[in-house]
Amino acid sequence: MARIIGGVASTHVPAIGKAIADNKQNDPYWRPFFQGFDYVHKWLAREKPDVAIVFYNDHGLNFFLDKLPTFAVGAADEYRSEDEGWGIPVARAIKGDADLSWHLINALVADEFDITICQEMLVDHAVTIPIALMFPGERWQTIRIVPVSINTVQHPLPSLKRCLKLGRSVGRAVESYKPDLRVMVVGTGGLSHQLDGKRAGFINKEFDRLCMDKIVDEPEALARYSIHDVVEEAGAQGVEFLNWMAMRGALTGYVKEVHRNYHIPISNTAAATVVLENAPIAQHQAA
Ligand code: DHB
Ligand code: FE
Repeated sequence: MARIIGGVASTHVPAIGKAIADNKQNDPYWRPFFQGFDYVHKWLAREKPDVAIVFYNDHGLNFFLDKLPTFAVGAADEYRSEDEGWGIPVARAIKGDADLSWHLINALVADEFDITICQEMLVDHAVTIPIALMFPGERWQTIRIVPVSINTVQHPLPSLKRCLKLGRSVGRAVESYKPDLRVMVVGTGGLSHQLDGKRAGFINKEFDRLCMDKIVDEPEALARYSIHDVVEEAGAQGVEFLNWMAMRGALTGYVKEVHRNYHIPISNTAAATVVLENAPIAQHQAA
């Protein structure tokens, strides 16, 4: 049976792609951020996931304001990217796992999530940057992905509670998937940031800390925040935290934080990296 081994949350700021292309990982500006991935690399080398289910938000590459699904699931054998205008190299196509995608899609629809099914889907920096960070060099070729896009752009957005439930449905679906896969879940974006308007550059360290603390053991406490609360506390783009909520929801076992890095700022964003392990309940009780 498939099993969810854990989750990784990662910022997806496009400028990171330029830093990787220019080999700037050890520059004073970038080092405190990239260092936060040393543990992630060790964890991934030990845990050896086969597939990553990536909760992210599209920023206008695959969907635009004219048609924007609340939730969309990729069901392709590979996912290409394209130039978004950030001046970063375009990532090569990432392998998909269409069988797992269709299993998740069937389970989500049976669970009353009216998702959009995408047999072709371009993935933007919100997928390619976290993949490049977690799987540096050519290591990205060792992982297959199932992208799940959540609307964090065109209001009305789904609630935090709804995204937590979406994740839970995905978690249950993975547990009922026969092939012996090691599955990781990823939530990208955040934490606090606002890119435009009067509050451009807004960052809220206290709220970010609360989110990182509560997401481990008390995601329901976060689910009580409304979207407007999150915009106020974390900035207009801080609502990308919805992707973290879905990632957390998919961890259905005993959840433990094994790594955290928080660094201000990367570009306009409070950059956060978190690794959560997911042990089966029975195994945890026996230990
Ligand atoms: C930045 C942050 C984002 O989440 C994004 O999608 C684009 C840019 C930034 O801080 O530059
Ligand atoms: Fe973003």
